[in-house]
Amino acid sequence: MGATAAHIAALKELGDIVLIDVVEGLPQGIALDISSAAPLEGFDCSITGTNRYEDTRNSDIVIITAGLARKPGMTRNDLLEKNAEIVKSIAAQTAKYSPDACLIVVTNPLDAMAYVAKKAAGFPKNRVMGMAGVLDSARLRAFIAAELKAPPCNVSAMVLGGHGDAMVPIMSRCMIAGVPITELLPKEKIDEIIERTRNAGAEVLSLLKTSSAYYSPAASVMEMAEAVLKDRKKILPCSAYLEGEYGVNDCFAGVPVKLGAGGIEEIIEIELTEEEKRLFLKSAGEVKKLIAKLRF
Ligand code: 2OP
Repeated sequence: MGATAAHIAALKELGDIVLIDVVEGLPQGIALDISSAAPLEGFDCSITGTNRYEDTRNSDIVIITAGLARKPGMTRNDLLEKNAEIVKSIAAQTAKYSPDACLIVVTNPLDAMAYVAKKAAGFPKNRVMGMAGVLDSARLRAFIAAELKAPPCNVSAMVLGGHGDAMVPIMSRCMIAGVPITELLPKEKIDEIIERTRNAGAEVLSLLKTSSAYYSPAASVMEMAEAVLKDRKKILPCSAYLEGEYGVNDCFAGVPVKLGAGGIEEIIEIELTEEEKRLFLKSAGEVKKLIAKLRF
């Protein structure tokens, strides 16, 4: 996924790119491969691979994708303890070499790993965020577009809460060019799409068998990185550290945020239906349970 994200970053010329991995040769090989596409694809940025954190010094954005991946039949939560160790060490090294960076966490279980990263880096809450809502919302948008044979970019939708089986598609806000989806599709179809969205990561995994999704997660994380690097002030659903917003405290969960040069510049509190509120609190509660297991 990191390699795919790096390729997208190069295509968009978002900046110079450093790939880092513990496996010797892997990031160097990927960097060489992507760089060799530059004359064909027309981008002009430096892409290097390394096994040393020193080479990532003064990064503007650090994206953490490292960690064990799910195998078919595993939930994201099964990765908790091992990935917490990995994320902790990366976040600490990041803070050392790039103290002013924005940290975007992708490693699962996502919201708990964002919490680990924030603690380990000691960064303020605006500079640590998790990528999940953009991906889950993109999947929801893609499924709705396919059902209605509408252009995917015409569909706006939001999935909030934790990036787990209890994620919360906010159907009251789901529209095609301002037309509520509830007026275009019957309830049974909408319920089916919600279920498919919740399981979309597992659906890809069960097909690929040896890997989770990577094209759509990579595109999602680059949407966030671009908003920060270009100070777009874009409103995107991201996992953010909550201190009372949406009735949740000391926990990461997916909420709409404004992303700009300052990272998460604002958490936007929208009105949810009673049922959406209940599901959001349940989903955040699942994240809290994971965080508690890590004994911070
Ligand atoms: C997914 O949903 C990997 O969690 C990621 O595909």
